[in-house]
Amino acid sequence: MIVAMSTIDKLIARMTLPEKLGQMTMTAASHAVTGPVSAGDATDSIRDGTLGNLLNLVGPAPTRDMQRIAVEESRLGIPLLLGFDVIHGHRTIFPVPLAEAATFDPWLWERTARAAACEAAADGLALTFAPMLDVSRDPRWGRSVEGPGEDPWVAATFACAKVRGFEGKDLASPASLAATAKHFCAYGPVAAGRDYAPVDISERTLHEVHLPAFAAAVRAGVAAIMPAFTSLAGIPMTAHKQLLRDYLRGTLRFDGIIVSDYNAIRELINHGVAANVVEAAVLALRAGVDIDMMAGAYREGLPVALERGLVSMAEIDDSVRRVLRLKARLGLFDDPYRRGTVAEAPAVVAARRALAREAATKSLVLVKNAAATLPLPSSVRRVCVLGPLADAWREMRGPWAAAGYDAPGVTVRAALRESIPDARIDHAAGVPITGGDDAGIAAAIDLVRAQPDAVVLCLGEAAEMSGEAASRAAPELPGRQREFATAVFDRARAADVPVIVVLFCGRPLVIPWLDERADALLVAWFPGHEAGHAIADVLTGRVSPSGRTPMTWPRSLGQVPLYYAQYANGRPENAADRFTSKYLDASSAPLYPFGYGLGYGRCAYTNLRVTPASAGPEGVFEIAVDVTNEGSRTAEETVFVFIRDRVASVVRPLLELKGMAKVVLAPGTTATARVRLAATELALLDVAMRSVIEPGEVDIFVGPCADPARLLSSRVLLCG
Ligand code: NOJ
Repeated sequence: MIVAMSTIDKLIARMTLPEKLGQMTMTAASHAVTGPVSAGDATDSIRDGTLGNLLNLVGPAPTRDMQRIAVEESRLGIPLLLGFDVIHGHRTIFPVPLAEAATFDPWLWERTARAAACEAAADGLALTFAPMLDVSRDPRWGRSVEGPGEDPWVAATFACAKVRGFEGKDLASPASLAATAKHFCAYGPVAAGRDYAPVDISERTLHEVHLPAFAAAVRAGVAAIMPAFTSLAGIPMTAHKQLLRDYLRGTLRFDGIIVSDYNAIRELINHGVAANVVEAAVLALRAGVDIDMMAGAYREGLPVALERGLVSMAEIDDSVRRVLRLKARLGLFDDPYRRGTVAEAPAVVAARRALAREAATKSLVLVKNAAATLPLPSSVRRVCVLGPLADAWREMRGPWAAAGYDAPGVTVRAALRESIPDARIDHAAGVPITGGDDAGIAAAIDLVRAQPDAVVLCLGEAAEMSGEAASRAAPELPGRQREFATAVFDRARAADVPVIVVLFCGRPLVIPWLDERADALLVAWFPGHEAGHAIADVLTGRVSPSGRTPMTWPRSLGQVPLYYAQYANGRPENAADRFTSKYLDASSAPLYPFGYGLGYGRCAYTNLRVTPASAGPEGVFEIAVDVTNEGSRTAEETVFVFIRDRVASVVRPLLELKGMAKVVLAPGTTATARVRLAATELALLDVAMRSVIEPGEVDIFVGPCADPARLLSSRVLLCG
């Protein structure tokens, strides 16, 4: 039974101001993990009703104990809301979100969120600070790893899948978590890719690129939204009344809670828009922030603000009402212990490892496979597994392994031993991930000299080199890895041994030299607990790789930010004409375009049909293309549909993703991939920022990635 509104209002009427502010406050249960402040022991505040929400408390016993204090020992017995960052799995760790995005598989996105929600709820939690929906077009930004990549359509699709997965059909279910869409909004374009730096983008980019995912999350019923730490065109998001209150609550009709980021309300003082904590609290409340995470600003500042008439009790009550309503929707008033009471069956947990392996396998992106180096032939008898990430079980889990830190990730070395038991697997790290120690290079090169059938060279970043506060000015291979890899390539070439590079990273890296030298290159991102198994599945050919990169890979750092959906310009690049948009000293083409990734099959696209040839605003275009697997192994192909509006009242992107389909093809077979595209999807924001469908011609492009040379095209007419 859901608690009726009148019950909530009656409860609010009985609350003291400190109790109300307690419902508007969230602190970490023990120590701080992502900010400069720490909360200390929360027990007394829970008991006296001045703290209603916790983060970072996890596990059936501790959550139950705290909940018991809130429900049985506080005056009003209001249950706690317990939140946790369930970013890429909870106890079972799935691939990092950027890697998951690379699967381009919404059903998988939903299933991993559902599985993580079940695990987290069994651990006593009711709220996750996920999904992160920040579009990222700058690999310097460490938080690229936490999101869906560079494309707004992918981000919106990801948003819906994740919200459905976390929240399930009924938020009150003991296996459901309230989801938080974060970080609202436009955190990705931080200046020069530096975390927390200001953002200054156009109104058009905001609406076309950064808001659609949040709008989609709201439509999918997301329970909470977290403003970004950053400022946008001079206004910190935590105080952004126009976007939080007017747009989110007004235009989008979002009626869930807005929870600040960690200490973000107090940081309004650092932004220079508040002189003190009272002003900071007033700005955040006025903007519509309901819960103050870790700043203590509401408890400290709002009583003074109230006294001075800077805020009203009605405004405070509105926030308290929203928080209590969420607790009611989560079923916490009916049974505060509904989560974390029933332990999950071992078989259920085991099945989750299978899902982790499936997700990890599908997230791997094969970007080079010269002379069909992969899969490894079944005749291999000796493989040399080299590099600092070959046996680094900690790193496999990625930067935000939530409650999954206890379990090691399966390494490439261990998994290859398991999957090719008859082969000898030699191993040497060669160099550490970072630092200048190259003492291990000689021993590793000796292994290459011993004439193995193949070298599997595992390179990349440490997990903690991406994520929050992990921006890199030069996102390249760290430490002495380049020198090491070069020595391996030189030696392997002399011995005629193929080198397969497995690259671990939380973002695209700038590695044109590696692409040139490797025989095969598999981007593994951070695949989670089942990392090694997934990689071995692909290396041995048990599974054909099917991941596609959700971010464009630059050739050189100077190209950043680089993304496929560039707006058209007046002097398109032309090699023969100096006065066109290009560099004098570098190509402007990416190393790997958005959507790029190879499989073991070889797909050819023919016979693109788009019907009808013209349609009005209510119409739907049916797009069909035949895909033939001309290779000798099964292929799982992702078919992308892009559009370009040929003439519009405002400048449009050269390509815009509007849909995708997947086909699985046995060798020699053909299948038709179909995508429906509603004319409403072709709407644009006109000069006055109104959404309009403008009559005119639209090009439809279909193909395996955003490389214009690889796309088939057709043209339709939009009628007024
Ligand atoms: C700061 C991060 O920006 C946010 O994503 C996270 O949810 C909170 N810390 C809580 O850990």
